[in-house]
Amino acid sequence: MYNILITGGAGFIGSHVVRLFVNKYPDYHIVNLDKLTYAGNLANLKDIEDKPNYTFVKADIADLDEMRRIIKEYDINGIIHLAAESHVDRSIKDPFTFARTNVMGTLALLQAAKEYWDSTQAPLPPKGGVRRLFYHISTDEVYGALELTNPEGVPAPFTTKASSKDDMAYGKEFFLETTKYNPHSPYSASKASSDHFVRAYHDTYGMPTIVTNCSNNYGPYQFPEKLIPLFINNIRNGKPLPVYGKGENVRDWLFVEDHARAIDLIFHEGKIADTYNIGGFNEWKNIDLIKVIIKTVDRLLGNPEGHSEKLITFVTDRLGHDMRYAIDSRKLQSELGWEPSLQFEEGIEKTVRWYLDNQEWMDNITSGDYERYYDDMYKNR
Ligand code: NAD
Ligand code: DAU
Repeated sequence: MYNILITGGAGFIGSHVVRLFVNKYPDYHIVNLDKLTYAGNLANLKDIEDKPNYTFVKADIADLDEMRRIIKEYDINGIIHLAAESHVDRSIKDPFTFARTNVMGTLALLQAAKEYWDSTQAPLPPKGGVRRLFYHISTDEVYGALELTNPEGVPAPFTTKASSKDDMAYGKEFFLETTKYNPHSPYSASKASSDHFVRAYHDTYGMPTIVTNCSNNYGPYQFPEKLIPLFINNIRNGKPLPVYGKGENVRDWLFVEDHARAIDLIFHEGKIADTYNIGGFNEWKNIDLIKVIIKTVDRLLGNPEGHSEKLITFVTDRLGHDMRYAIDSRKLQSELGWEPSLQFEEGIEKTVRWYLDNQEWMDNITSGDYERYYDDMYKNR
């Protein structure tokens, strides 16, 4: 058995990665380790929870002794590390939680894996692609923010091909794997720090590591504090859509299942100690994206076109709001042959349909603590 530990598997991206691995690799034992914070939800994995090659363990990655025990107990050979505090607005309110989980948690996991892998000489199963690996999932936000030198941009041509990169630019620069780290928010500072620790464990102790930096993900099972699910839900409920600043910030959106496919490929074929950027060359100005969401939700709900545009409410900007993210993923495309499978038009339609069809999932998590937190966070806006 190849025993893989996936951390944060009850969250948004993690649940897609767990589902992909459990279904695609019946010979692997997938151990999903998650603390089940407000963002962790086992309902995301209902369809695979009874599979024989799947185990869920509730634990906190910052608990070093627990990490030692779990890695040993399940004889873990490969780790895909996604567990993190992931929301920028929360990091602005409470940076310490981000340092604890993202920095200290990653360090505890690295140290526990190092100790176990140093102590065991057991050979890995003789199978193509199977190897010992600590694969750390990071974000494009560690590179900082790009300028909006072409504010009008070019209407998104709904393509995913790298060759069209220059047509889509809202600016000349893109984040490359060699771009210097320059994080601005407490969230991105904590992710940058964790990336440095991962690379330090390779450079100092020879730990087999890979780091990938991905752009904004969207799709089913995303917690509705993030732009796309929040806005879909608010449109459905006729609630205001809080657009930060003038809505001019640009984000580069990738369908979550395409990220999970990239993680699978890199986990098996990526070069040790290397870094890969993951993104679909799909830049959108927030306000334009919001209008696409409104149009799609209104159409699917049978509302007249433009019906919900009145919900757009410009609110105080996010502190230190990064202007533009844009990932250059040509290295991954050319070296490992990955490319996004979905065009944005299809991806957004699929996503909106999913949230509208899964209202119970949404209603279950938008009550109680989340609702109280949300009211507290936004009541002055
Ligand atoms: P998420 O917030 O939806 O899920 C995070 C998961 O981690 C949750 O299940 C939560 O319970 C768990 N977790 C949090 N603290 C923990 C702890 N101390 N111990 C164990 N588990 C803990 O996040 P996401 O959007 O799925 O992001 C997953 C990873 O991908 C993160 O590392 C994030 O930085 C990175 N990432 C996210 C995006 C994006 O657009 N969402 C893009 C690039 C990279
Ligand atoms: O780029 C990758 C990152 O993308 C990930 O590392 C983070 O974990 C993930 O949360 C995401 O960060 P963003 O801050 O870009 O995502 P968010 O959905 O919070 O916001 C997207 C944009 O929309 C951003 O410019 C802020 C804006 N926004 C967001 C919310 C929640 C609004 O205008 N109004 C809102 O209510």
